Amino acid sequence: MPQVVRSPEELRTALAGRGRVGLVPTMGYLHDGHATLMRRAREVCDVLVVSIFVNPLQFGPSEDLAAYPRDLERDLGVVGEAGVDVVFMPDAATMYPPNFDTRVTVSGLSEGLDGESRPGHFTGVATVVLKLLNLVRPDVAFFGEKDWQQLAVLRQMVRDLNVSVQVVGLPTVRAPSGLALSSRNSYLSADQQARATVLSRALRAVQAAYAGGETDSAKLRQAGLDVLNADPEVALDYLSLVGRDMRESKSVDNGPMTRVLVAARMFGVRLIDNMPLVVA
Ligand code: PAJ
Repeated sequence: MPQVVRSPEELRTALAGRGRVGLVPTMGYLHDGHATLMRRAREVCDVLVVSIFVNPLQFGPSEDLAAYPRDLERDLGVVGEAGVDVVFMPDAATMYPPNFDTRVTVSGLSEGLDGESRPGHFTGVATVVLKLLNLVRPDVAFFGEKDWQQLAVLRQMVRDLNVSVQVVGLPTVRAPSGLALSSRNSYLSADQQARATVLSRALRAVQAAYAGGETDSAKLRQAGLDVLNADPEVALDYLSLVGRDMRESKSVDNGPMTRVLVAARMFGVRLIDNMPLVVA
């Protein structure tokens, strides 16, 4: 059974002198994507810490903070199954006391895509993750490629601020339908989840066009748009081919470096997904 701790002091005691520490930060409502990060972390660490904290700082005023799905009992089952040692579940007042007045902003990489659609989002993410890294002091921290831009932002933060941690990114876990697993999928009915596979189908269409010899980025993008436009439920935010700098790739000569990212609202829920341009 994992030990549940709620204060920095209890956390420090729980981790004292316990070998190689791994951290998987989450916002809970855990699914197999999260569990896969935990299982991988379990393999390479002596002590495995999972944090569960729905971080108010990364939600915009009109976003789903209050509605964000929560199920502590089920989450504790998932972490137990994954062999987690310590679950860190601070409350918001512990993380952000009244005089809290510092923000971590990673400039360039945070600016486009989700950063543009969700102002302040990545500042909220970077700030909470740096706090979690300072609280847990893990040797290794695990994140999913599902949130590709987030992973890039966090790698940059760790580099820029000399945070002493190894960042490991792991591939997106999908349902058999192709839908990327996400806590927010729980807002959708089974039928709606089936419709939401349009995002991964669009990404695959871009991959297929590239594999078929198309190298013009506008035409590659159009191959994805054709799939998305066929479903009137898709309110597209962006479909972008980007390089490591998270900026639109003008040319895809550097194919293996290019990632295709999509964000759209369907049935009132904002969904994101991404894939490499070149199928591994
Ligand atoms: P959350 O959405 O709960 O995700 C926690 C971690 O699980 C992130 O690293 C995310 O990329 C990863 N993840 C989510 N779905 C995945 C999937 N289908 N396959 C693989 N990995 C997946 O991302 C956050 O929380 C927060 O922004 C956080 C980093 C915890 C900061 O608050």
